Amino acid sequence: MTQTNKLSEKTILITGASDGIGRETARILAAKGARLILHGRNPEKLGQVIAQIREESGNDKLVPVLADFSSMEEVRRMGVTLLQSEKRLDVLINNAGLMTSRHQQSVDGYELTFAVNYLAPFLLTNLLRPLLTGSAPARVVNLSSIGHYLVSPQLKGLPNPKLYWGWVAYCRSKGYLILFTRALAERTHKDGVTVNCVHPGVITSTKLIGWSWLKAVDLHEGAEAVVNLAINPQVEQVTGQYFSRKRLAKPRAEYRDPRRQAALWDLSLGWCQLKPE
Ligand SMILES: NC(=O)c1ccc[n+]([C@@H]2O[C@H](COP(=O)([O-])OP(=O)(O)OC[C@H]3O[C@@H](n4cnc5c(N)ncnc54)[C@H](OP(=O)(O)O)[C@@H]3O)[C@@H](O)[C@H]2O)c1
Repeated sequence: MTQTNKLSEKTILITGASDGIGRETARILAAKGARLILHGRNPEKLGQVIAQIREESGNDKLVPVLADFSSMEEVRRMGVTLLQSEKRLDVLINNAGLMTSRHQQSVDGYELTFAVNYLAPFLLTNLLRPLLTGSAPARVVNLSSIGHYLVSPQLKGLPNPKLYWGWVAYCRSKGYLILFTRALAERTHKDGVTVNCVHPGVITSTKLIGWSWLKAVDLHEGAEAVVNLAINPQVEQVTGQYFSRKRLAKPRAEYRDPRRQAALWDLSLGWCQLKPE
């Protein structure tokens, strides 16, 4: 596959592009002329967002893709569809996510936050690795959160519904993405695929959070931090790192632990029924 440095020739997949940070990231990248694959779970909502971005940007290279990330079968179908339909994938932005106050289960029997925020991007990224490798240099950007500092990783057992705290499940899922970022970066380094994660800032204007006692940044600024990791040539060689907005930062110690990174990787292969390399 041919290498390209021109953004107009690049294909970027943004999950959760139907709202919030994902939608704003799509607006910025569409204005810059990239070809975008925009993921959502609700066809009407995604269709309206795409129509609006197309009108604003004049960019007609916007492709919709649908999947409910609470179902591994839907994630798998999305991955297979993209492997068949796409010639290249230069950047994958794993942005879709949720926080929920009530304990709920995914169709596969996992706690919902864990399933959507962690298992879905783990599975999708691994399915799309051949496409990313074939487009190298390519990038993966995972949306983590400053909230991960509040909780330690738990690699044994699923959350107990009786003791369930939505924000703990959310923060832990964002920590798992840091463990995943580092484990994946190690495996894809040789293929020219970089993997980083970002806390975009606390953004209270999306439906995910709504309020915070921490200082909030505006939506556009938050999306710019994602765009920075996706296309800035200055971070092209950086891999396996956690960024707080546009600055390199150190995650909580447990999430920097190679043994936990390896353990979660192995567990995740089993949960997602993927074969070890
Ligand atoms: N907001 C913040 O302060 C903040 C801080 C740190 C990190 N983040 C991370 O940034 C990402 C985006 O957050 P946001 O604030 O933009 O939230 P948001 O406005 O609620 O957008 C979340 C996106 O994820 C999609 N999504 C949710 N559940 C899904 C499912 N089951 N299947 C498929 N897609 C699903 C939503 O689709 P619908 O449009 O259909 O709902 C939407 O497109 C998340 O990963 C979040 O953890 C946010």
